[in-house]
Amino acid sequence: MVNYYNLIIDTKLMANKGCKTYICRTLLYNSLKMNKAVTGFSKLSKEEKISWIASTYFSNPGNTIQLLKKYWNSDEKLQKLHDEFIENTISNFYIPLGVAPNFVINEKNYTIPMAIEESSVVAAASKSAKFWATRGGFKATVLNTEKIGQVHFIYKGDISKLELFFAQTKSKFFSETESLTKNMQQRGGGILDITLEDKTQLLPNYFQLHATFETKDSMGANFINSCLEQFATILKIEAQAYELFSEEEKNIEVVMSILSNYVPNCIVRAEVSCPVEALAEKHIPDPQAFAERFVQAVQIAEVEPFRAVTHNKGIMNGIDAVILATGNDFRAVEAGVHAYAAKKGQYSSLSHAKIENGIFSFWLEVPLALGTVGGLTTLHPLVKLSLEMLENPSAKELMEIVAVAGLAQNFAALRSLTTTGIQDGHMKMHLNNILNQLEATNEERHLVQKHFKNHVVSHSGVVNFVNDLRKK
Ligand code: MEV
Repeated sequence: MVNYYNLIIDTKLMANKGCKTYICRTLLYNSLKMNKAVTGFSKLSKEEKISWIASTYFSNPGNTIQLLKKYWNSDEKLQKLHDEFIENTISNFYIPLGVAPNFVINEKNYTIPMAIEESSVVAAASKSAKFWATRGGFKATVLNTEKIGQVHFIYKGDISKLELFFAQTKSKFFSETESLTKNMQQRGGGILDITLEDKTQLLPNYFQLHATFETKDSMGANFINSCLEQFATILKIEAQAYELFSEEEKNIEVVMSILSNYVPNCIVRAEVSCPVEALAEKHIPDPQAFAERFVQAVQIAEVEPFRAVTHNKGIMNGIDAVILATGNDFRAVEAGVHAYAAKKGQYSSLSHAKIENGIFSFWLEVPLALGTVGGLTTLHPLVKLSLEMLENPSAKELMEIVAVAGLAQNFAALRSLTTTGIQDGHMKMHLNNILNQLEATNEERHLVQKHFKNHVVSHSGVVNFVNDLRKK
């Protein structure tokens, strides 16, 4: 197999000997086209990386290189910052950062930053925000903030001896991690508890140290993982020295130590409510019928997993957009939220609704392990800006804002679904994307917008309309 990295070095040598580097490289890249494997890629310069990508996978490498470079930031310092977030950065991938103003949450006004590519999401959030701002606003409460981490290990021996060992050793897991927990304790957090869990019913000889943590304003992943790795070391050392253990029992095998992204005790509740008749507005002429249909739609998502997944996807439209804008880990949140939605053994709706004594209530509870310090929060300039726009919230306040964004999104989706249908608003927002695809002129855009104000928007409808205009 050709070693690409060596060839790159060879080209450098050739260049020193007066050979034209560009031609040599082009030849080398071409010679490698058939073999798309590469070694030492991470050690190449950014220019070399994009040249390799362009000449290996694209018929017009020049255009590819030009496109990738078009997205580089002209501020070199800023570009370097972004380059270094990950390995092998070749360019930046834009996602729009939008804002949804007029949110009233616990009687405070917010403009919520949202990073998302889906056309109708920010508009829907803004619409919900405005609707509820005149109906008492959103209420949100953090119910608890406990994070979880586990040391997974194999112990072959007498379980009662392991239990005794753990009871006698437990205090050491706290005392011997003090250097790691000191700062967190000063901020009011730290290790809450550690328990020994017998999982041998699930897997032979499988046990856990199950630890709970309070990490205050940080998401806490690094803190938790460092504590867990220290627990694993303590576990192995102490087991070796434990006199009651046989030789086999002393040899505890730690399989892995890692936080859990399932945080069912790190929950925030967001809700809205108002008298049914207060729901009335232009598009809701019969508020009682609307409220009843809305509650039915939620009940369907509670009992029907196919619907529940899409229903919750709508909630995640709001949640992920704020998570991304505020520099939090949306993959962790997604995984944890969906596990929570399936906590009773069947995937179900995260939100609920009822009409009781003439009052319409709509609420959700979601697990959110978020941070407003550490990680990307001070590194990424737009994350910093987003947090500043939210007036630098605590992690708890951010949990409330994010949950509200999810509920607002869900309200907007269900309101459309149970009244006009989703496509009307969605396609109107998508119209611009279609016009961009068609490279429509300003005049064409104007005529299309005018026509589709009173006509159903569909991709083929817009294409046909523009083609007809062009024929004329
Ligand atoms: C689309 O991104 C989200 C919806 O499908 C959510 C829902 O169906 O509730 C509209």
